[in-house]
Amino acid sequence: CGIVGYVGNPALDRDHSAIDVLMAGLRRLEYRGYDSAGVAVVAEDGVESRKKAGKLVNLSEELDANPLGASTIGIGHTRWATHGGPTDQNAHPHLADHDQLSVIHNGIIENFAVLKQELAADGVTFRSETDTEVAAALLGKIYRGEAEGDLTRAMQLTSQRLEGAFTLLAVHADDPNRVVASRRNSPLVVGLGENENFLGSDVAAFIDYTKNAIELEQDQVVTITADGVEITDFYGNPAQGKPYTVDWDASAAEKGGYDTFMEKEINEQPSAVADTLLGRTDAAGRLVLDELRISEDELRGVNKIIVLAAGTSAYAGTVAKYAIEHWCRIPVEVELSHEFRYRDPIIDPNTLVVSISQSGETMDTLMAVRYAREQGARTIAICNTNGSTIPRESDAVLYTHAGPEIAVASTKAFLAQITAAYLLGLYLAQLQRKLFTQQIRDILGALSEIPAKIQQVLETSDDVKELARNMKDTTSVLFLGRNIGYPVALEGALKLKELAYIHAEGFAAGELKHGPIALIDEGQPVFVVVPSPMDRHSLHAKVVSNIQEVRARGAKTVVVAEAGDEAVRDYAEQVFYVPETLPMLMPLLTTVPLQIFALELASAKGYDVDQPRNLAKSVTVE
Ligand code: G6P
Repeated sequence: CGIVGYVGNPALDRDHSAIDVLMAGLRRLEYRGYDSAGVAVVAEDGVESRKKAGKLVNLSEELDANPLGASTIGIGHTRWATHGGPTDQNAHPHLADHDQLSVIHNGIIENFAVLKQELAADGVTFRSETDTEVAAALLGKIYRGEAEGDLTRAMQLTSQRLEGAFTLLAVHADDPNRVVASRRNSPLVVGLGENENFLGSDVAAFIDYTKNAIELEQDQVVTITADGVEITDFYGNPAQGKPYTVDWDASAAEKGGYDTFMEKEINEQPSAVADTLLGRTDAAGRLVLDELRISEDELRGVNKIIVLAAGTSAYAGTVAKYAIEHWCRIPVEVELSHEFRYRDPIIDPNTLVVSISQSGETMDTLMAVRYAREQGARTIAICNTNGSTIPRESDAVLYTHAGPEIAVASTKAFLAQITAAYLLGLYLAQLQRKLFTQQIRDILGALSEIPAKIQQVLETSDDVKELARNMKDTTSVLFLGRNIGYPVALEGALKLKELAYIHAEGFAAGELKHGPIALIDEGQPVFVVVPSPMDRHSLHAKVVSNIQEVRARGAKTVVVAEAGDEAVRDYAEQVFYVPETLPMLMPLLTTVPLQIFALELASAKGYDVDQPRNLAKSVTVE
């Protein structure tokens, strides 16, 4: 979910009305969830709120029809449903204390059922099915009781009683000068303005107004007023967050002339890769990853790597596995983060755990990293979001510099993650002397040519787009890949599921004959990611055979191959060529036509490619 809070100074004559600030923030946060949205402000007659199921535009229309009273203090929420379906009633804010207290929440309150019973026994009636309304009622009760009308104190006491993950924000009509918030396991940042302050799930919430931020730590309560920010722990002891300055500006989160964020982000991939490579070699061409904060000795001792991630990031992890095992001769396991910690994994101090997360907030991955640390592993985060939770809780971080990714389905962050994973692999190879200096230089040289080659793929994508439009009514597509092309096939299928809601499956090409080949009948579209003819295992010939096998059974084959690979032409309905590179680096190129295909096909169907149904960009629940 996305959360925003604002307090301005009503005495100042400026045009920052609470509702404008909140709606601007929600617009930027909509990628975090968009099945309902709501706002509450403290106006002259007390707390006023509006909420609506569906996208933010529904709330906007509601506000046009039924405007809120003038105010310079309020809270706003855009939801990704967990407890209770996406209805008006279940949308946030939730009210308590005779509708004078308004609360929004991100996360899951795990002991909500017990608390609900306790409050119901006290005579509280509930209007929604949400855990949030329970938290609101508890806060209201404590506010009136133990906290004696002190909202900050009430939030501290309430937080002590809640279990699970939460960011909570509250305003009360009796105290129209403060927004109080609390965080455990869910993200929260403060934005510092002049005579105004902000709260947000991330800095996008207030990037239009300020770049000065404070990242809250775990289990803290913060109170913002127009001219102050006060942080405590859950017991009222003074505490501190981590101040920082945001290094990107609002225009980086705008569409910049493209129709959709997805299109813009696919087109930004050359710079996402280039920026991730930037500044990571010294004059002698050696890799320097100073930011890694884990001693060289420790990294020399690493004898096993576990990569943890979810979704697209997990496919970047699979690419990392092929590359790192090949270059470093260190065994690499890739595991979906939500499966990892429940299978008694074997970890010791020489195990390096590498998490990959665009947002740095994915709860599944965060929990897996915590678990790994508890078991004694060293942890490195490959992450795209500065100051987010996963890097903060890891021993070290290797940032991808893809810039803010707004479209929900990941594109440029994926290529940046693969790039960062290559750098990490080469760095380990350098430290552990598994490759010659010249070999590393050659690979880095080839990597530095990738951005221009991606650009070439982007500029020659008309055929891909035409094919996508022609295939708009397809109901099923299979993707095959082998070795380092296998995760590319999986990602190609995932993009099509996410954007176009088409049944799509990625298979290891060699596995086809062991079962999935039964799916092939007349006209079944099959995309094949063909390895480089230079591949050292001669996989090229094997994949060409796989293409023939499916074609013989009626499949319509579409092939992504390396420029100059004429051999595949005879076996494919259509071939998309990408420029030549080292076989191990091919995913940075072969992924791109598959992204463009999914984007174009989904657009042809008229779907919202930036915010596909049922998804959220940053899933902060387990
Ligand atoms: C969500 C998004 C996916 C993303 C996954 C992991 O499910 O919809 O696009 O790949 O989370 O996100 P992360 O931020 O950890 O990379």
